[in-house]
Amino acid sequence: MPRITAVNHVAVVVDDMEKSLAFWRDALGIQLQELRDVPAEKSRVAFLPIAGAEVELVMPTTDDSGIAKYLAKRGPGMHHICLEVDHLVSMLAQLKAKNIRLINDEPRTSADGKIYAFIHPESTGGVLVELYQLA
Ligand code: CO
Repeated sequence: MPRITAVNHVAVVVDDMEKSLAFWRDALGIQLQELRDVPAEKSRVAFLPIAGAEVELVMPTTDDSGIAKYLAKRGPGMHHICLEVDHLVSMLAQLKAKNIRLINDEPRTSADGKIYAFIHPESTGGVLVELYQLA
């Protein structure tokens, strides 16, 4: 049986990075590890690690990406939670067998070698869930 092993990150979609950092970095005092453009996701992302997990603040840099459309439709807020799994392919098979609706039927690979897939909020009680298998 595949196993969920950790919370990897929580992603928050933001429309104003400085304003968001004024809360997460300055008011809460979480260290900003990195702020960088992620062209593959057409976004600028702030990474704020907390004890093995992290908060990611994601600001779309174009208006045609999925996350930009999400922001336009719903406004800023919680976007997804990402869980680590020890075997993504078998987890996707297990979810399909339980009639869970997936956004990615097959795992996708990120630039740094992680494989990942998203589960549709329709099957999760309204939360977009990302699954990671680390490289
Ligand atoms: Co994510």
